[in-house]
This record gives sequence, C-alpha cells and structure tokens, in this order.
Amino acid sequence: MYPSSRFSIAPMLDWTDRHCRYFHRLMTSETLLYTEMITTGAIIHGKGDFLAYNEEEHPVALQLGGSNPQDLATCAKLAQERGYDQINLNVGCPSDRVQNGRFGACLMAEPQLVAECVSAMKSVVDVPVTVKTRIGIDDFDSYEFLTDFVSIISEQAGCEDFTIHARKAWLSGLSPKENREIPPLDYPRAYQLKKDFPHLNISVNGGVKTLEETIEHLKHLDGVMVGREAYQNPYILAEVDQLIYGLDKPVKKRTQIVEEMYPYIERQLSNGAYLGHMTRHMLGLFQNMPGARQWRRHISENAHKPGSGIEVVEAALAKIPKELNV
Ligand SMILES: Cc1cc2nc3c(=O)[nH]c(=O)nc-3n(C[C@H](O)[C@H](O)[C@H](O)COP(=O)(O)O)c2cc1C
Repeated sequence: MYPSSRFSIAPMLDWTDRHCRYFHRLMTSETLLYTEMITTGAIIHGKGDFLAYNEEEHPVALQLGGSNPQDLATCAKLAQERGYDQINLNVGCPSDRVQNGRFGACLMAEPQLVAECVSAMKSVVDVPVTVKTRIGIDDFDSYEFLTDFVSIISEQAGCEDFTIHARKAWLSGLSPKENREIPPLDYPRAYQLKKDFPHLNISVNGGVKTLEETIEHLKHLDGVMVGREAYQNPYILAEVDQLIYGLDKPVKKRTQIVEEMYPYIERQLSNGAYLGHMTRHMLGLFQNMPGARQWRRHISENAHKPGSGIEVVEAALAKIPKELNV
C-alpha cells in the first residue's frame, strides 16, 4: 500500500504547516506527513493557495474538513491534481467552530453522510481516501457504535484505511485541548477493531511518545500516528526510517538537521516568508540537551524581529556546546 502509513505525523492545525513538514522530512524520508485540516470552504472560496506544499514533503496527505459530498469531491480532485498522495477526512475534531459547520467529530453520529462523502471523493480520485476518527462521541461510546461506523464507511464507500484516535470526544463541555487529554485512551479497542476488520488498514493515534511504544502497537495494528510528541520533541523522528521501516542508513545529528534547513530558510526568506514562521517548529529539536534553553530563547527573542535572517539560527546553534557532537 502506498503511501505507507506504518508511521505518520498527525494533522495539527497551526503546527503541521508546510515549513514544519519540510523540517520533519529532513529527519525521515518514509513517514507519512499530514497537512493541517483544511476546510472545503477555504479551498473553494478562500483567498490564497491553501493546497501549496513543497515537493520534498512527499509522501504527504491532505486532511480535509467538511461534510458536503460535492465540495469534498471538488477539493479531493484539486488535491490529486496538485499531487497529494492521500486524502483524509477529519471525523475527529470536536471544536465548536467545526461542529457549527457540521463536520469533524460530530460526523461520527452520521455514518451514512460520511459514507456519501467518502464515496463522492473516491469517485473522482485514484489516490487513497482515508478517515481519521475517534472511538466514540458523548454517550455513543460502545464498541458496537464504533464497529457500526467502520462497517458502514468501509462497506458502502469502500474506505480501506482508518486512523483511530483511541479516545472518545465530548462534544460539549470540553475544549479541543481537554478532549485530547481527559477522555481516557483505550488502545485495546483499536486492537479489537483490527481483529474484527482484518482486511482494513487500521492505525492508532493518541498519547504515543516513543518508537518503542510504536513498535509495540505495530504488533497489533498496521500503523501508528504520532502528534504532539513528534512536534514538541521532533528528534524522535530521526530514527523512524531505521527502527520502523528497517532502512540501513546513518542517523542524522541534530546540528546537521539545522544546517540542512539553511538553504530552505534562505529560499523562503527571499520569497517573503518570516523567519519565525519556520524556526518555531524547530524549538524542541535539542530537548533535554545542554544549551537547549539558550537555543530556544535565542530563537524566540530574535526570530520575530523584522529583517531577521539565517544569522539568528546560526547564533542559536552556537549555544549548543560543540563537544556534545549532537
Ligand atoms: C495543536 C493541535 C492541532 C490539531 N489539529 C488537528 C487537525 O487539524 N486535524 C485532526 O484530525 N486532528 C488535529 N489534532 C489532533 C491530533 O491530530 C491528534 O489526534 C491528537 O493530538 C492525539 O495524538 P497525540 O497524543 O499523538 O498528540 C490537533 C492536535 C493538536 C495538539
């Protein structure tokens, strides 16, 4: 199956933009990268190019937010034309704004509509159309509720690939952030789903912090999607190709990764991008290393200043003791 979703980085609004994805790609050639959720409204009516990405990002999946089958089909087609490797539908976001638009996690209550959406997209593209969802919403949190949902979408729409954020969402009362922390994780439910739907590609998401945990989950499932830890502690990505995909290649050092960002940063700056929009994704690279705090502080205090250039990153890198050789 291409692209491989054995390991993927979760869609994260405001975080996994194209600068972030370029940076992550420097550490792992195999990981499937997701865009932030982009709404059909933004793509169809918005000003600006919401589908822009760097060629280096492949394999890259576009995550769509929406619930109008025709609009989703229009966007999926545009995305395929632009070269995206996969189209993913968001059925997991619990924010009020998204609920008002009648998409995201509340769609778990409308499996027929989700099936229509997926069918409409699949009828116009050849790339995989996949679904990211929760294990339940509000009081609809039985295992049967989840299996009914997956049965309908897979049987009626032919969707073969589901990513399960292994906690339910409360649609009222909890903020999106609380909805990523408070409902308990239930990995066995995702494992059971794979047992009951062995022909489907099932990935798990939620709370995974290490590659050791990833390898454990992969004994039961087809894929693991990591969100916050990949963003906040990105160096865990440096060994994904070796440990998860079995590739025989050297593990890059952190300093090498920073230096490999330089040509990209220069290019983007000359196209009018702001330094801080790129460096903000790199703040966690030296997590738990001597000099990490100074690295972060130098970037945070300087990258947003008008006219800031690559020298800010070079000076921040100089805060990491050379003898560490990291
Ligand atoms: C800042 C932020 C933004 C997010 N935006 C999205 C999004 O656009 N689409 C989506 O499906 N999930 C979104 N999520 C949820 C993540 O994709 C993921 O399901 C969740 O963080 C649990 O995985 P983790 O514990 O590995 O972080 C977001 C999470 C965070 C922290």
